[in-house]
Amino acid sequence: MNAPAALEAGPAMPLVQTFDMLSESQRAAMKRIVAHDAAPAPQIEFTTPASMFTCPERFALEQQHLFRARAVPLAVSALVAEPGTAMGHDALGIPLIISRDKQGEIHVFLNACQHKGAKLLESCDPVKSARMTCPYHAWTFGLDGKLIAVARPETFANLDKSSRNLAELPAREHGGIIWVMLDRTAEPDFSPLVPDLASDLEALDLPRLHVYGRKRFEIAANWKLVLEPFLEGYHVQRLHAQTVGPMFADVPNVVDLLGPTIRQISGKANFAPADLDIEGENIHKTVTTVYNMFPNCVVITSPWYVSVMLLHPRAADHTTVEYHMLTRAKPDNPKAEELYAKSYAMILNVFGNEDFRAAEISHAGLSTGALDTCVYSGLEASIATYYGVLDSYLP
Ligand SMILES: [Fe+2]
Repeated sequence: MNAPAALEAGPAMPLVQTFDMLSESQRAAMKRIVAHDAAPAPQIEFTTPASMFTCPERFALEQQHLFRARAVPLAVSALVAEPGTAMGHDALGIPLIISRDKQGEIHVFLNACQHKGAKLLESCDPVKSARMTCPYHAWTFGLDGKLIAVARPETFANLDKSSRNLAELPAREHGGIIWVMLDRTAEPDFSPLVPDLASDLEALDLPRLHVYGRKRFEIAANWKLVLEPFLEGYHVQRLHAQTVGPMFADVPNVVDLLGPTIRQISGKANFAPADLDIEGENIHKTVTTVYNMFPNCVVITSPWYVSVMLLHPRAADHTTVEYHMLTRAKPDNPKAEELYAKSYAMILNVFGNEDFRAAEISHAGLSTGALDTCVYSGLEASIATYYGVLDSYLP
């Protein structure tokens, strides 16, 4: 989504990518966008069983095969940009620690002191510190998870400190996103982290952006209903009619798969193919790119910022979303501060009160049993693509 038109003439502090700064793959996809009056109106015949959104057994199956069998997106790298930073993370319902050690390596640990299991970090705000000390008995760990010090060590007989390091989950950074294997017993599988995805996100500068704002939403809806609005343009002119709808066109997107990640690129209402040839122009003013990183991370470009959302399924009818607005840098002048503050308020309203609200009313209606199936249009074709990937991972 994008800043309202009035804001687009804002300060010269753009995110900015000009066309030539994008990855080869992004440029090739943008060249495939046709003029709106030449856009096709494709038909599809696709339905999903309503039960896939409401059934607890289906939820358990997805947890096992989609969220535990291979690496999943966990958090935004920029939250722990500097070496020597750590934060708690509890949006999955599993207490975790994310840290970047002094060598710059990313780690994800279970947030449990190896003495009696107490949560080491109770706050989910990033903190700069060389070590983490348990509030209970002051056992102290390095940001690499090693047990450094124990209070009154002489009172433990034969304590092997090296056997009491924090429990670590396999994790990697890829294109500015931290990915994790939530099942420590499974063979690590980082296959969704394909080079084309990193090239795209690197071109957007995602690993080096500033976290201007982050907000957590608790949504009474299945995680796939929260995801679906970010896989289709069909709702934009309708659900967002009073907000951002007029900025977008009611036409299909250019869609590519980068591994299991779906990339959708679309020309906004003001787009014409010749815009791509205007030298030095901020490409995000006329083109929107959306990544749906399988299974639960959404990245959306706007002229002055990038939105990153992590969708964490908590139950069949409950999803925790962590929204982040990333900007080029911390605002350093009143005009930039005003632009970012207005954009942030606007995007929280559009996502929170429109998209997430739509997921909740959809979940409530589906829970009545009124529908056996949901049916999708050609403007929702990426949802079919997404569920094709999803089905390929289920037994
Ligand atoms: Fe939307």
